[in-house]
Amino acid sequence: MSEILEQIKTCPIDEIMPMHPEVLACPALMNRRLREEAPVFQDPMSGIFFISRYADVVAMAQDHQTFSSVMPGTTTRAVNSDDQEVVDLLEQGYPNVPTMLTQDPPLQRRYRKFVDGAFSPSNLKALEPYIEQISNELIDAFADAGQCEFLNDFGVPLPLKVIASQIGVPLEDLPLLRKWTEAFIGNLSQQLDREGTLQAAKDILEFQHYFVEKMEERRRQPEDDILSKVVNASIDGEKPLDNAECLSMLSQILVAGNETTAGSLTEGIWLLIENPDQYELVRNDPSPEMISRLVEEVLRYSSPSSNMFRRTTREVELHGVTIPENSVCFARFASANQDDAQFADAMTFNIMRDNLKDHVAFGKGVHHCLGAALARREMNGGFKVLFERLENFRLQPGAIEPQFAPNALLHGLIGLPLAFDVR
Ligand code: HEM
Repeated sequence: MSEILEQIKTCPIDEIMPMHPEVLACPALMNRRLREEAPVFQDPMSGIFFISRYADVVAMAQDHQTFSSVMPGTTTRAVNSDDQEVVDLLEQGYPNVPTMLTQDPPLQRRYRKFVDGAFSPSNLKALEPYIEQISNELIDAFADAGQCEFLNDFGVPLPLKVIASQIGVPLEDLPLLRKWTEAFIGNLSQQLDREGTLQAAKDILEFQHYFVEKMEERRRQPEDDILSKVVNASIDGEKPLDNAECLSMLSQILVAGNETTAGSLTEGIWLLIENPDQYELVRNDPSPEMISRLVEEVLRYSSPSSNMFRRTTREVELHGVTIPENSVCFARFASANQDDAQFADAMTFNIMRDNLKDHVAFGKGVHHCLGAALARREMNGGFKVLFERLENFRLQPGAIEPQFAPNALLHGLIGLPLAFDVR
């Protein structure tokens, strides 16, 4: 264990450094201490208030009047930087309009209405065979080798291909979609240097130009895809969305959907390797019920959308701490999912726990994940095909233990060098 993580165990609570890259990559120890000793903790470096207990996170997510999702400073530019070159570059594109994730009701509900139908469980039913087909094709490409880089070869392309087909992006443009998703995530991570920020701004500009062109095409000739729904929908006689609003919605669907599902699929396989008794359970009984149990416990344990921003609209008193009006807070979904007060022996990966579905991996309240049903289908379908085709998952010989990326909002493995046997 690194020096920083060792320190976290014993240092005075106000010396914990929650935004240190090593802590961001491996936050479980810190999360436990914060839940127990400082359930409302203000990080002295960033000023952000960390809300860490399950009950508080749920209450906060359900109280959008007090905990707003509209953040100051993120409402105008797609990349939050004062660097003149970045600012000049982004002026050639569209402003960052707050829509679903970054908006409060009633406007947030208005935006959701444009896309809710497209992501409803009944609409997604038809996707099942497609998800299994893609899963099989991905496995075909690496099965003979007996090994793969799981994140790259399966975790990332599965949700990316599914969402591309739903949005209406041709398969040959998948590498672009991936590049743009990474640019948005890099920007969110707040770990980019100047060169990285500049590159993210260029990529986001390219994303905007690409989709504005596609949006014009769909306005002229609608197709059966989400892009056509978003650009042409006029709900309750209102005027259709403009380009900046559509771009904001698309970028949220891309960012919120791809990295998270990829992260859960990948961490799921790693959790099975680390917990052979749990792997045994699904191997002996790969029924839809057991795979669904696995999916829910992987979602709880991995919580890829680990923290989300909120801003207080009034002064709040919680656990003896005064949070002033206009403070930035973190709704700490991952920490909530590790709370022993809600999940018995929470740090144990246990697909047989009886309150599996109580997790808040998809959030709670008005912002509850738009893509929850889609992500569940992708994970259930993906694991089903993986278990049908492959067995004996293990790390490639000589591979070091997989590492997590340092990111304040998204938690996920950097890669998973996987070996397996073909069934
Ligand atoms: C395992 C996969 C996923 C996880 C863990 C996840 C997690 C979350 C969480 C925690 C929220 C609530 C954020 C908040 O309260 O501020 C959320 C919202 C959202 N998610 Fe997901 N998500 C996943 C997959 C997807 C997919 C596949 C899509 C694609 C459609 C998607 C699109 C969205 C959108 C657009 C929102 C914002 C909804 C709103 O604010 O009204 N997510 N997600």
